[in-house]
Amino acid sequence: MSESSDQKVIDAAPTTHAKLAAWVQEIAELTKPDRVYWVDGTQEENDRLTAELVETGTLKRLTDPSFPNSFAAFSDPKDVARVEERTFICSEDEKDAGFTNNWENPVKMKSMLTGLFDGAMRGRTMYVIPFVMGPLDAEQPQYGVEITDSAYVVASMRIMALIGDKVLRQIEAEDAFFVPALHSVGAPLAPGQQDVAWPCNEDKWIVHFPEERSIWSYGSGYGGNALLGKKCYALRIASVMARDEGWLAEHMLILKLTNPEGKSYNIAGAFPSACGKTNLALLDPTIEGWKAETLGDDINWMRIGKDGELRGVNPEYGLFGVAPGTGWSNNPNAMNAITKGNSIFTNVALTDEGGVWWEGMTDEVPAHLTDWLGNDWTPESGRVAAHPNSRFCTPIDQVDMLSQEYYSPDGVEIHAILFGGRRKTTIPLVTQARSWAHGIFMGSTLSSETTAAAAGAVGVVRRDPMAMLPFIGYNAGDYLKHWDSIESKANPARLPKIFLVNWFRRDADGGFAWPGFGDNSRVLKWAIDRIEGKAEAVETPIGFVPTGDSIDLTGLDMTPADVEAAVVVDKDEWATELASIQEWYAKFGEALPASLRAELEGLKERLGA
Ligand code: PEP
Ligand code: NA
Ligand code: MN
Repeated sequence: MSESSDQKVIDAAPTTHAKLAAWVQEIAELTKPDRVYWVDGTQEENDRLTAELVETGTLKRLTDPSFPNSFAAFSDPKDVARVEERTFICSEDEKDAGFTNNWENPVKMKSMLTGLFDGAMRGRTMYVIPFVMGPLDAEQPQYGVEITDSAYVVASMRIMALIGDKVLRQIEAEDAFFVPALHSVGAPLAPGQQDVAWPCNEDKWIVHFPEERSIWSYGSGYGGNALLGKKCYALRIASVMARDEGWLAEHMLILKLTNPEGKSYNIAGAFPSACGKTNLALLDPTIEGWKAETLGDDINWMRIGKDGELRGVNPEYGLFGVAPGTGWSNNPNAMNAITKGNSIFTNVALTDEGGVWWEGMTDEVPAHLTDWLGNDWTPESGRVAAHPNSRFCTPIDQVDMLSQEYYSPDGVEIHAILFGGRRKTTIPLVTQARSWAHGIFMGSTLSSETTAAAAGAVGVVRRDPMAMLPFIGYNAGDYLKHWDSIESKANPARLPKIFLVNWFRRDADGGFAWPGFGDNSRVLKWAIDRIEGKAEAVETPIGFVPTGDSIDLTGLDMTPADVEAAVVVDKDEWATELASIQEWYAKFGEALPASLRAELEGLKERLGA
């Protein structure tokens, strides 16, 4: 790039924010794009960018009227998911990354990345996206600016966050701090070189500098690797901010439930992938008179309110959900939101009518599709039509059951926290924690059996603390200490009650011990009744479980004895579990908080082990 075109970049910077102008100039000089474009966030701009993406073949415009103003993208087959093994937390001290993260010296990493980014945007447009995570009228809005060379990222970020001029003007007015989030697909174009539909690089780096609160992402165009407001900022970097500032950035849904008397409760829930988080976030209760409203499906920022209560905010503007398994019969609320339009689908199948389809969307399987790889597909093909990690990206305000409180700048009081995993045995349908510390013990030992969707053996128990294993931006032991410290910062009487749930337990015949889906509202009702002091429970060595008749079974073909079977605490299973928990805790070494060591000792004693 010539001296004069560098100058053009500076002059073109439509901002009075000195740090932002300087950073954009620095990155433009490093990455050497053909042009720099500041994203304003308007509909007109989005129409123009998506039309360009259709032109270049990145997006297909859906012509089926069931999917208005919607598009499908098909990634490089090697760029379909988050790359945890290429994800780094580059704290100054290696100790601060802990055993759950990859680490590299930040100076070394920066210098390596600077080499990779040098000229990385040649032949492309560099987009500057000012964005805010959470409400713009929050007491302390959390700003970011993503620089990317992908227009697909711009269009997706517009669904997932509030972006553009409105945000930029406020960043300037407050001379505010913003998280600098740099992204490149890592595929520069030589003069005259033909672009591909999904540019990316075999070499991928998703790197976080926690002290600096910055993100560098290289080589991938896929969601969690490239939409940097989501996992990189709102979980990994935000978890570090939260540690330093006394709040919690968590991988949780938020659901509001109102009982027949009109009293409302907000429930936060942390579940690893493929454990029904989106279904729970958009739940249709099967119990008479109960109403559910959605507040969030993936991320929950919790701060301590004026009265010492925990208040949760969903910092996102859209849903970025796994498509397969989301269908008209099991999640009509999600399907209604998706089919209002304005959605971007990635790696789903195309119907002959110009719409999209994925496994589980409809009970009836289409006779012919174009699969996510572009091949003809019929039910006899013997393979899936949509990639198992294909996604829908849809504005959250299209969810009919969205609570009005979603828009509240200081969020909602959280009354209960659920930790849940997928376990065939051992873990009861629901267990109430004995205390806050015991609840943290449950969260820290949260486990799930690996499914066929993930690489590796199936049915292996993997520990996933608070469902945050890939997202804790610092030392996992310090993270648990931080959870522990919330008790003394909050009003203990107002702290949420904690429950461990397992919708997936099997009965003696190998079938599911619990019907799940909308009937999970019955378990939530029990939890709320516990908070109210109205529901009965049995004290077991692992916590409080429901008595057989304390769960409302009205209209279900189940008996109290079935409930008792679903919550039984088996001595032998727990002997095995205890050994597995001890092994897990040993990995934390010195970083394990004393309170959790004490919880483990207490459990051992109660189990008579
Ligand atoms: C993602 O991979 O972009 C993502 C949202 O992650 P997950 O659904 O696994 O939480
Ligand atoms: Na938006
Ligand atoms: Mn998630």
